[in-house]
Amino acid sequence: MITTSGLTKVYSSRGREITALDGVDLHVREGEVYGVIGQSGAGKSSLIRCVNLLERPTSGTVVVDGQDLTALAGRGPRAGKELRRARSRIGMVFQHFNLLSSRTVQDNVELPLEILGTSGKERSRKALELLDLVGLADKAKAYPAQLSGGQKQRVGIARALAGDPKVLLSDEATSALDPETTRSILQLLRDLNRQLGLTILLITHEMDVVKSICDSAALMEKGRIVESGTVGELLATPGSALAAALFPVSGDATGEDRTVVDITFRGESATQPVVSQLARTYNIDISILGAAIDTVGGLQIGRMRIELPGRYEDNVVPIGFLRERGLQIDVIGRTADRPALVKEGAE
Ligand SMILES: Nc1ncnc2c1ncn2[C@@H]1O[C@H](COP(=O)(O)OP(=O)(O)OP(=O)(O)O)[C@@H](O)[C@H]1O
Ligand SMILES: [Mg+2]
Repeated sequence: MITTSGLTKVYSSRGREITALDGVDLHVREGEVYGVIGQSGAGKSSLIRCVNLLERPTSGTVVVDGQDLTALAGRGPRAGKELRRARSRIGMVFQHFNLLSSRTVQDNVELPLEILGTSGKERSRKALELLDLVGLADKAKAYPAQLSGGQKQRVGIARALAGDPKVLLSDEATSALDPETTRSILQLLRDLNRQLGLTILLITHEMDVVKSICDSAALMEKGRIVESGTVGELLATPGSALAAALFPVSGDATGEDRTVVDITFRGESATQPVVSQLARTYNIDISILGAAIDTVGGLQIGRMRIELPGRYEDNVVPIGFLRERGLQIDVIGRTADRPALVKEGAE
Protein backbone atom coordinates (compact mmCIF):
# COMPACT_ATOMS: atom_id res chain seq x y z
CA MET A 1 0.00 0.00 0.00
CA ILE A 2 2.92 2.31 0.76
CA THR A 3 6.31 1.67 -0.79
CA THR A 4 9.29 3.96 -0.63
CA SER A 5 12.40 3.09 -2.60
CA GLY A 6 15.77 4.64 -2.00
CA LEU A 7 14.15 7.62 -0.33
CA THR A 8 16.57 10.35 0.67
CA LYS A 9 16.01 13.78 2.12
CA VAL A 10 18.80 16.29 2.54
CA TYR A 11 18.00 19.63 4.20
CA SER A 12 20.23 22.61 3.67
CA SER A 13 20.25 24.91 6.59
CA ARG A 14 22.68 27.79 7.11
CA GLY A 15 25.08 26.40 4.54
CA ARG A 16 25.12 22.99 6.16
CA GLU A 17 23.62 19.86 4.68
CA ILE A 18 21.68 17.53 6.94
CA THR A 19 20.84 14.07 5.66
CA ALA A 20 17.55 13.26 7.37
CA LEU A 21 16.74 10.23 5.20
CA ASP A 22 19.48 8.10 3.78
CA GLY A 23 18.04 5.52 1.39
CA VAL A 24 14.83 4.36 3.05
CA ASP A 25 13.06 1.32 1.60
CA LEU A 26 9.78 0.93 3.41
CA HIS A 27 6.97 -1.42 2.55
CA VAL A 28 3.61 -1.17 4.29
CA ARG A 29 1.04 -3.78 3.34
CA GLU A 30 -2.61 -3.01 2.78
CA GLY A 31 -4.66 -3.16 5.96
CA GLU A 32 -1.81 -3.25 8.43
CA VAL A 33 -0.79 -0.98 11.26
CA TYR A 34 2.88 -0.25 10.75
CA GLY A 35 4.96 1.49 13.39
CA VAL A 36 8.21 3.34 12.82
CA ILE A 37 10.17 3.87 15.98
CA GLY A 38 13.45 5.61 16.63
CA GLN A 39 15.17 8.19 18.72
CA SER A 40 14.79 11.92 18.31
CA GLY A 41 16.39 13.09 15.08
CA ALA A 42 16.33 9.63 13.47
CA GLY A 43 14.29 10.99 10.57
CA LYS A 44 10.82 9.67 11.45
CA SER A 45 8.92 12.89 10.79
CA SER A 46 10.90 13.51 7.63
CA LEU A 47 9.87 10.07 6.43
CA ILE A 48 6.18 10.60 7.06
CA ARG A 49 6.26 14.08 5.52
CA CYS A 50 7.93 12.66 2.43
CA VAL A 51 5.32 9.89 2.17
CA ASN A 52 2.55 12.42 1.57
CA LEU A 53 4.86 14.82 -0.25
CA LEU A 54 4.40 17.58 2.34
CA GLU A 55 8.17 17.51 2.00
CA ARG A 56 9.72 16.91 -1.37
CA PRO A 57 12.17 13.98 -1.24
CA THR A 58 15.68 14.71 -2.52
CA SER A 59 15.66 11.40 -4.37
CA GLY A 60 13.84 8.10 -4.45
CA THR A 61 10.19 7.26 -5.02
CA VAL A 62 7.01 7.10 -2.99
CA VAL A 63 4.17 4.90 -4.22
CA VAL A 64 0.88 5.00 -2.32
CA ASP A 65 -1.99 2.76 -3.40
CA GLY A 66 -0.34 2.09 -6.74
CA GLN A 67 0.25 5.75 -7.54
CA ASP A 68 3.76 7.17 -7.84
CA LEU A 69 3.43 10.45 -5.93
CA THR A 70 7.01 11.51 -6.59
CA ALA A 71 6.39 11.30 -10.33
CA LEU A 72 3.24 13.43 -9.97
CA ALA A 73 5.09 16.02 -7.92
CA GLY A 74 7.85 16.13 -10.51
CA ARG A 75 5.51 16.94 -13.36
CA GLY A 76 5.05 20.57 -12.44
CA PRO A 77 1.99 22.67 -11.65
CA ARG A 78 -0.33 20.90 -14.10
CA ALA A 79 -0.05 17.70 -12.10
CA GLY A 80 -0.84 19.70 -8.95
CA LYS A 81 -4.51 18.88 -9.09
CA GLU A 82 -3.84 15.17 -9.44
CA LEU A 83 -1.35 15.29 -6.59
CA ARG A 84 -3.85 17.12 -4.38
CA ARG A 85 -6.47 14.49 -5.15
CA ALA A 86 -4.03 11.68 -4.39
CA ARG A 87 -3.11 13.43 -1.17
CA SER A 88 -6.69 13.80 -0.09
CA ARG A 89 -6.74 9.98 0.01
CA ILE A 90 -3.99 10.07 2.62
CA GLY A 91 -5.17 11.21 6.05
CA MET A 92 -2.73 12.79 8.46
CA VAL A 93 -2.90 13.08 12.24
CA PHE A 94 -0.53 15.35 14.16
CA GLN A 95 0.87 15.42 17.66
CA HIS A 96 -0.52 18.87 18.43
CA PHE A 97 -3.85 18.27 16.66
CA ASN A 98 -3.57 21.42 14.50
CA LEU A 99 -7.23 22.36 14.91
CA LEU A 100 -8.50 25.82 14.02
CA SER A 101 -9.56 27.45 17.29
CA SER A 102 -12.09 29.81 15.68
CA ARG A 103 -14.04 26.96 14.12
CA THR A 104 -16.39 24.53 15.78
CA VAL A 105 -15.53 20.86 15.95
CA GLN A 106 -17.86 20.13 13.04
CA ASP A 107 -16.40 22.95 10.94
CA ASN A 108 -12.89 21.64 11.61
CA VAL A 109 -13.91 18.23 10.29
CA GLU A 110 -15.59 19.84 7.28
CA LEU A 111 -12.51 21.83 6.32
CA PRO A 112 -10.88 19.25 4.02
CA LEU A 113 -14.27 18.70 2.36
CA GLU A 114 -14.60 22.44 1.69
CA ILE A 115 -11.22 22.33 -0.01
CA LEU A 116 -12.36 19.37 -2.09
CA GLY A 117 -15.47 21.35 -3.11
CA THR A 118 -18.05 19.08 -1.47
CA SER A 119 -21.53 20.64 -1.15
CA GLY A 120 -22.62 22.07 2.19
CA LYS A 121 -25.26 19.47 2.90
CA GLU A 122 -22.98 16.56 2.07
CA ARG A 123 -20.17 18.10 4.15
CA SER A 124 -22.37 18.37 7.16
CA ARG A 125 -23.69 14.82 6.77
CA LYS A 126 -20.17 13.44 6.43
CA ALA A 127 -18.77 15.44 9.35
CA LEU A 128 -21.52 14.29 11.70
CA GLU A 129 -21.05 10.69 10.59
CA LEU A 130 -17.30 10.91 11.28
CA LEU A 131 -17.80 12.57 14.65
CA ASP A 132 -20.11 9.73 15.55
CA LEU A 133 -17.47 7.23 14.44
CA VAL A 134 -14.86 8.75 16.77
CA GLY A 135 -17.34 9.02 19.65
CA LEU A 136 -17.86 12.80 19.61
CA ALA A 137 -21.36 13.11 18.18
CA ASP A 138 -22.38 15.41 21.02
CA LYS A 139 -19.47 17.85 20.55
CA ALA A 140 -20.19 19.00 16.99
CA LYS A 141 -20.96 22.58 18.05
CA ALA A 142 -18.20 22.87 20.65
CA TYR A 143 -14.95 24.76 20.05
CA PRO A 144 -11.53 23.12 20.35
CA ALA A 145 -10.74 25.08 23.54
CA GLN A 146 -13.67 23.32 25.24
CA LEU A 147 -12.24 19.84 24.59
CA SER A 148 -9.73 17.64 26.39
CA GLY A 149 -6.54 16.57 24.63
CA GLY A 150 -7.98 13.16 23.82
CA GLN A 151 -11.15 14.71 22.40
CA LYS A 152 -9.08 17.12 20.28
CA GLN A 153 -7.17 14.19 18.86
CA ARG A 154 -10.47 12.46 18.05
CA VAL A 155 -11.46 15.55 16.09
CA GLY A 156 -8.06 15.42 14.36
CA ILE A 157 -8.72 11.81 13.42
CA ALA A 158 -12.26 12.56 12.17
CA ARG A 159 -10.84 15.38 10.03
CA ALA A 160 -8.16 13.04 8.67
CA LEU A 161 -10.89 10.61 7.60
CA ALA A 162 -12.97 13.22 5.76
CA GLY A 163 -11.55 12.43 2.32
CA ASP A 164 -12.25 8.68 2.77
CA PRO A 165 -8.55 7.90 2.85
CA LYS A 166 -7.18 4.42 2.40
CA VAL A 167 -4.09 5.39 4.31
CA LEU A 168 -3.71 7.21 7.59
CA LEU A 169 -0.38 8.71 8.61
CA SER A 170 0.16 9.57 12.24
CA ASP A 171 3.12 11.49 13.61
CA GLU A 172 3.29 11.02 17.38
CA ALA A 173 -0.50 11.28 17.66
CA THR A 174 -0.46 10.24 21.30
CA SER A 175 2.73 11.91 22.53
CA ALA A 176 0.88 14.86 24.05
CA LEU A 177 -1.62 12.64 25.88
CA ASP A 178 -1.65 10.91 29.25
CA PRO A 179 -1.34 7.09 29.34
CA GLU A 180 -5.07 6.43 29.78
CA THR A 181 -6.05 8.73 26.90
CA THR A 182 -3.23 7.27 24.81
CA ARG A 183 -4.75 3.83 25.24
CA SER A 184 -8.18 5.00 24.13
CA ILE A 185 -6.80 6.77 21.05
CA LEU A 186 -4.75 3.70 20.12
CA GLN A 187 -7.85 1.58 20.52
CA LEU A 188 -9.74 3.96 18.23
CA LEU A 189 -7.00 3.69 15.60
CA ARG A 190 -7.08 -0.08 15.88
CA ASP A 191 -10.88 -0.11 15.49
CA LEU A 192 -10.71 2.16 12.43
CA ASN A 193 -8.02 -0.07 10.96
CA ARG A 194 -10.29 -3.09 11.35
CA GLN A 195 -13.66 -1.51 10.51
CA LEU A 196 -12.57 0.54 7.52
CA GLY A 197 -9.65 -1.60 6.37
CA LEU A 198 -7.54 1.51 6.85
CA THR A 199 -3.79 1.10 6.42
CA ILE A 200 -2.01 3.03 9.17
CA LEU A 201 1.60 4.19 9.21
CA LEU A 202 2.44 5.61 12.57
CA ILE A 203 5.52 7.24 13.94
CA THR A 204 6.33 7.01 17.59
CA HIS A 205 9.17 6.97 20.04
CA GLU A 206 7.17 4.87 22.50
CA MET A 207 7.64 1.13 22.39
CA ASP A 208 4.28 0.60 24.11
CA VAL A 209 2.49 2.07 21.10
CA VAL A 210 4.14 -0.47 18.82
CA LYS A 211 3.46 -3.23 21.29
CA SER A 212 -0.23 -2.53 21.62
CA ILE A 213 -1.37 -1.96 18.04
CA CYS A 214 1.25 -2.61 15.38
CA ASP A 215 1.31 -5.59 13.05
CA SER A 216 4.73 -4.61 11.73
CA ALA A 217 7.46 -2.27 12.82
CA ALA A 218 10.68 -0.67 11.68
CA LEU A 219 13.49 0.82 13.68
CA MET A 220 15.11 3.98 12.32
CA GLU A 221 18.55 5.23 13.15
CA LYS A 222 20.32 8.16 11.53
CA GLY A 223 18.02 8.29 8.52
CA ARG A 224 18.07 4.58 7.84
CA ILE A 225 15.83 1.65 8.60
CA VAL A 226 18.03 -0.76 10.51
CA GLU A 227 15.42 -3.41 11.29
CA SER A 228 11.94 -4.13 9.99
CA GLY A 229 9.37 -6.88 9.73
CA THR A 230 6.14 -8.17 11.18
CA VAL A 231 6.12 -8.29 14.96
CA GLY A 232 6.22 -12.10 14.72
CA GLU A 233 9.27 -12.02 12.44
CA LEU A 234 11.05 -9.53 14.65
CA LEU A 235 10.46 -11.60 17.77
CA ALA A 236 11.89 -14.61 15.95
CA THR A 237 15.04 -12.73 14.94
CA PRO A 238 17.93 -13.46 17.30
CA GLY A 239 19.64 -10.28 18.41
CA SER A 240 16.82 -8.03 17.18
CA ALA A 241 16.90 -4.75 19.10
CA LEU A 242 13.21 -4.22 18.42
CA ALA A 243 12.35 -7.66 19.74
CA ALA A 244 14.40 -7.08 22.87
CA ALA A 245 12.63 -3.79 23.48
CA LEU A 246 9.18 -5.15 22.63
CA PHE A 247 9.63 -7.98 25.00
CA PRO A 248 12.32 -7.45 27.57
CA VAL A 249 13.41 -9.95 30.17
CA SER A 250 15.96 -8.85 32.69
CA GLY A 251 18.45 -10.60 34.92
CA ASP A 252 22.22 -10.34 35.05
CA ALA A 253 24.79 -13.12 35.23
CA THR A 254 25.66 -13.96 38.82
CA GLY A 255 29.37 -14.35 38.12
CA GLU A 256 32.06 -14.15 35.48
CA ASP A 257 32.16 -17.74 34.34
CA ARG A 258 28.53 -17.96 33.43
CA THR A 259 26.56 -18.19 30.21
CA VAL A 260 23.24 -16.39 30.00
CA VAL A 261 20.69 -17.64 27.49
CA ASP A 262 17.24 -16.33 26.56
CA ILE A 263 14.76 -18.98 25.46
CA THR A 264 11.74 -17.71 23.54
CA PHE A 265 8.64 -19.80 23.03
CA ARG A 266 5.22 -19.22 21.59
CA GLY A 267 1.71 -20.10 22.55
CA GLU A 268 1.40 -23.63 23.87
CA SER A 269 5.02 -24.80 24.02
CA ALA A 270 6.43 -24.59 27.52
CA THR A 271 10.06 -24.22 28.48
CA GLN A 272 9.85 -25.79 31.90
CA PRO A 273 10.28 -29.46 30.84
CA VAL A 274 13.05 -28.51 28.42
CA VAL A 275 14.97 -26.79 31.18
CA SER A 276 14.67 -29.76 33.54
CA GLN A 277 15.62 -32.17 30.71
CA LEU A 278 18.66 -30.03 30.05
CA ALA A 279 19.66 -30.13 33.70
CA ARG A 280 19.23 -33.89 33.86
CA THR A 281 20.90 -34.74 30.55
CA TYR A 282 24.05 -32.73 31.22
CA ASN A 283 23.96 -32.85 34.97
CA ILE A 284 24.25 -29.09 35.33
CA ASP A 285 22.66 -26.60 37.70
CA ILE A 286 20.53 -24.09 35.90
CA SER A 287 19.36 -20.84 37.44
CA ILE A 288 16.36 -18.98 36.14
CA LEU A 289 17.21 -15.27 36.11
CA GLY A 290 13.97 -13.93 34.71
CA ALA A 291 10.86 -14.89 32.83
CA ALA A 292 7.88 -13.20 31.25
CA ILE A 293 4.80 -14.03 29.26
CA ASP A 294 3.09 -11.34 27.27
CA THR A 295 0.90 -10.67 24.28
CA VAL A 296 2.76 -8.77 21.60
CA GLY A 297 1.03 -7.87 18.37
CA GLY A 298 -1.66 -10.44 19.20
CA LEU A 299 0.88 -13.25 19.71
CA GLN A 300 1.39 -14.98 23.01
CA ILE A 301 5.09 -15.05 23.68
CA GLY A 302 7.08 -16.38 26.57
CA ARG A 303 10.69 -15.72 27.31
CA MET A 304 12.90 -17.19 29.99
CA ARG A 305 16.42 -16.13 30.85
CA ILE A 306 18.56 -18.90 32.27
CA GLU A 307 22.13 -19.11 33.45
CA LEU A 308 24.44 -22.05 32.83
CA PRO A 309 27.67 -22.62 34.71
CA GLY A 310 30.79 -22.06 32.63
CA ARG A 311 31.63 -19.89 29.65
CA TYR A 312 29.99 -20.10 26.25
CA GLU A 313 32.69 -22.45 24.98
CA ASP A 314 31.83 -24.89 27.78
CA ASN A 315 28.13 -24.79 26.91
CA VAL A 316 28.08 -25.31 23.17
CA VAL A 317 26.57 -28.80 23.57
CA PRO A 318 23.73 -27.87 25.98
CA ILE A 319 22.89 -24.83 23.84
CA GLY A 320 22.80 -27.08 20.79
CA PHE A 321 20.39 -29.33 22.73
CA LEU A 322 18.01 -26.39 23.24
CA ARG A 323 18.24 -25.32 19.62
CA GLU A 324 17.46 -28.86 18.50
CA ARG A 325 14.20 -28.65 20.42
CA GLY A 326 13.18 -25.91 17.99
CA LEU A 327 13.33 -23.17 20.61
CA GLN A 328 14.62 -19.73 19.77
CA ILE A 329 17.86 -19.25 21.64
CA ASP A 330 19.71 -16.00 22.20
CA VAL A 331 23.03 -16.18 23.95
CA ILE A 332 23.28 -12.88 25.77
CA GLY A 333 26.47 -10.92 25.29
CA ARG A 334 27.31 -12.74 22.08
CA THR A 335 24.96 -10.89 19.75
CA ALA A 336 26.69 -8.24 17.68
CA ASP A 337 26.24 -4.72 18.99
CA ARG A 338 22.67 -4.63 20.02
CA PRO A 339 21.84 -0.92 20.04
CA ALA A 340 20.32 0.48 23.21
CA LEU A 341 16.88 1.30 21.92
CA VAL A 342 15.01 2.18 25.03
CA LYS A 343 16.57 2.60 28.42
CA GLU A 344 14.07 0.61 30.41
CA GLY A 345 14.14 -3.06 29.68
CA ALA A 346 17.06 -3.06 27.27
CA GLU A 347 20.18 -4.67 28.62
N1 LIG B 1 13.10 21.66 7.87
C1 LIG B 1 14.30 21.22 8.27
N2 LIG B 1 15.42 21.88 7.99
C2 LIG B 1 16.64 21.45 8.39
N3 LIG B 1 16.84 20.31 9.06
C3 LIG B 1 15.76 19.58 9.39
C4 LIG B 1 14.43 19.99 9.02
N4 LIG B 1 13.55 19.06 9.47
C5 LIG B 1 14.29 18.12 10.11
N5 LIG B 1 15.62 18.40 10.05
C6 LIG B 1 16.73 17.60 10.60
O1 LIG B 1 16.62 16.29 10.05
C7 LIG B 1 16.91 15.30 11.04
C8 LIG B 1 15.72 14.37 11.19
O2 LIG B 1 14.63 15.10 11.74
P1 LIG B 1 13.18 14.50 11.98
O3 LIG B 1 12.30 15.60 12.43
O4 LIG B 1 12.78 13.74 10.78
O5 LIG B 1 13.47 13.48 13.17
P2 LIG B 1 12.45 12.68 14.10
O6 LIG B 1 12.91 11.27 14.09
O7 LIG B 1 11.06 12.97 13.71
O8 LIG B 1 12.74 13.29 15.55
P3 LIG B 1 11.72 13.55 16.78
O9 LIG B 1 11.53 12.22 17.46
O10 LIG B 1 12.50 14.49 17.65
O11 LIG B 1 10.46 14.14 16.24
C9 LIG B 1 17.27 16.06 12.30
O12 LIG B 1 18.68 16.17 12.33
C10 LIG B 1 16.64 17.42 12.10
O13 LIG B 1 17.36 18.41 12.78
MG1 LIG C 1 9.41 13.89 14.65
